[in-house]
Amino acid sequence: MALQRISLLSLVLAWGCVASSSPQHTAAAPPRDLQITDPGLLGSLDIEWKPPPNVQTLKECTVKYKCEYRNAGDRDWKVIFTRKLKLRVGFDLSRTAEVKVQTLLKGWCTNDVEVQSEWVYATFQVPLQGNLESKVQSFHCIYHDWEYLRCTWQPGLLAPRGVNYGLYYWYEGLEHTLQCSDYIQDHGINIGCTLQNLSQAEYKDLSICVNGSVAATLLRPLYATLRLHNLAKPSPPQQLVVSMSASEELRVVWSPPSGQTPPQCLEYEVQLAEEQGEAKAAWAIPSRKTIAHHGGMLTVPVTAVLLCLMDCSHNIIPRMAKKPRAF
Ligand SMILES: *[C@@H]1O[C@H](CO)[C@@H](O)[C@H](O)[C@H]1NC(C)=O
Ligand SMILES: *[C@@H]1O[C@H](CO)[C@@H](O)[C@H](O)[C@H]1NC(C)=O
Repeated sequence: MALQRISLLSLVLAWGCVASSSPQHTAAAPPRDLQITDPGLLGSLDIEWKPPPNVQTLKECTVKYKCEYRNAGDRDWKVIFTRKLKLRVGFDLSRTAEVKVQTLLKGWCTNDVEVQSEWVYATFQVPLQGNLESKVQSFHCIYHDWEYLRCTWQPGLLAPRGVNYGLYYWYEGLEHTLQCSDYIQDHGINIGCTLQNLSQAEYKDLSICVNGSVAATLLRPLYATLRLHNLAKPSPPQQLVVSMSASEELRVVWSPPSGQTPPQCLEYEVQLAEEQGEAKAAWAIPSRKTIAHHGGMLTVPVTAVLLCLMDCSHNIIPRMAKKPRAF
């Protein structure tokens, strides 16, 4: 019994010695059969691999995988650690997807030191149809009042007559991609789309593809991944009432804009300018102001008012100007 224990101990010591002095001898084998497949969800790709061949003999060790991925041209890799053999991650399908995976071993078999295998690499590119100049241009989207998404684009440089564009979208939770059912048209050509009922897509990646064809010729598709909350634009505040108090102070009262914008995302800004005949003085932000989430009130001694509203991302500021009632 004692002898057994000693030999086990010396085995452990010998193993530890090997592990620390020449790690290449204990290096884990890399995963096998790394594959990238496209489930047709406009950006999400499935990454799969098989465990290294020796993994059954490593019962006392934890086997994990480190997966790094990016689009060709990106500087940084995104990293995922997992024990699974399958991941689904989002890419920009207009560029090559690059993936690398390595095995991480730790436990008795490695003397509790984490051992990394060599990387295995794979790339994926959807078949690039159409000429690059045939891709639609100036694509952009706004999530109006947190209620509906409106995306617009302009025909590509190579847009022959009879061109037909389509917008397709997908987000996690949808079984398959859907096509826009409410297009915006210009002379019979689709140049935009309005999507309603996207509350399930909020705070997720929304994958969009605008593709097209002319007769039997396919055009280069455009791929975009959107985050609705970054595209939100509220309407101006409502019911702006400006009045003069007895002490010659201007009272400005308004209520929140219509729509579903979360109140915590709304912030108001009041600007004032004095009207001098035809010439208008520059708008200025008054020193005394009240900012409220559910509408606001402000009292200042001036004669004209412009009310602004800021959204969550602070990049879009619609404006509403109104003259005071009392002069
Ligand atoms: C809105 O989308 C959900 C799925 O996210 C669907 O079940 C529902 O029928 C849709 N409602 C309308 C009015 O389209
Ligand atoms: C556009 O993309 C959708 C979704 O991937 C696809 O079903 C459709 O066939 C494509 N249309 C063209 C003209 O390429």
